[in-house]
Amino acid sequence: LACIAPAQASAVQLNIAHRGASDARPEHTFAAYDHALTLGADYIEQDLQITSDGVLVVMHDETLTRTVRGPAENCTGRVDSKTLAQLKTCSAGDWGKFAGGAYVSEKIPTMEEVFQRYGKTVNYYIETKQPEPGENMEAKLLALLDKYDLRESAVTDWQVLIQSFDANSLKTIHAMDPRLPLVFLGSLNPTSIQAVREYGVGIGPSFGGVTKANVDLAHAACLNVHPYTVNTTADIQRMLELGVDGMFTNFADRLETLLGAK
Ligand code: G3P
Ligand code: CA
Repeated sequence: LACIAPAQASAVQLNIAHRGASDARPEHTFAAYDHALTLGADYIEQDLQITSDGVLVVMHDETLTRTVRGPAENCTGRVDSKTLAQLKTCSAGDWGKFAGGAYVSEKIPTMEEVFQRYGKTVNYYIETKQPEPGENMEAKLLALLDKYDLRESAVTDWQVLIQSFDANSLKTIHAMDPRLPLVFLGSLNPTSIQAVREYGVGIGPSFGGVTKANVDLAHAACLNVHPYTVNTTADIQRMLELGVDGMFTNFADRLETLLGAK
């Protein structure tokens, strides 16, 4: 079986900034994405949620509790219970170790604003997060790819990779356009490899269970392996030695240093 995927053809190991440079900056803010790119990230990651008025926004959690601050009526509870206008009154950079600091003016970005900011200058690794029937998260995302002329470069150059823990979400996208590169988030084993090769270009497993045997098996099936979320230098080094094709990390700088030393 010949593998013609761009990443495998060039034999690179991709530096995927998990929620942006999410140790140094508040996750999923422009500050986090900008910083990740200065650190050498090949991809910036987006997790998608949807507002009550149907807009794709970039946030990891389904609720606003952990990373969002502001007026309680707008900035507490579930993301899908708020309009975009409500969410835009909130800060996405005033929590945890960032509280009161340099990033309190950061807002929750929409997916469209991310495309408007970076256009074709970066690569995107976008997760359909807990998609629910009737939300049409997948169709909304593909419409945005078309609006920002990213569909063809997603196909030819993997400028956009789409990931999900939900195989049905990926199969929905595959049915809409079988050329789009899709990555299933889940265990790396012979069963998952056989399943994902029907619609995807890769598997993103939690890094702890990754073995050389299963990386080799995935490669034999022309699937890439992108483990998450690999943060210590020792773990990053170990994943590189196992021959993975890239990894999600909160520390794009650490991965970039090790890739530069290879
Ligand atoms: O998408 C890869 C990794 O981000 C999966 O975990 O929970 O951080 O989205 P999570
Ligand atoms: Ca994710």
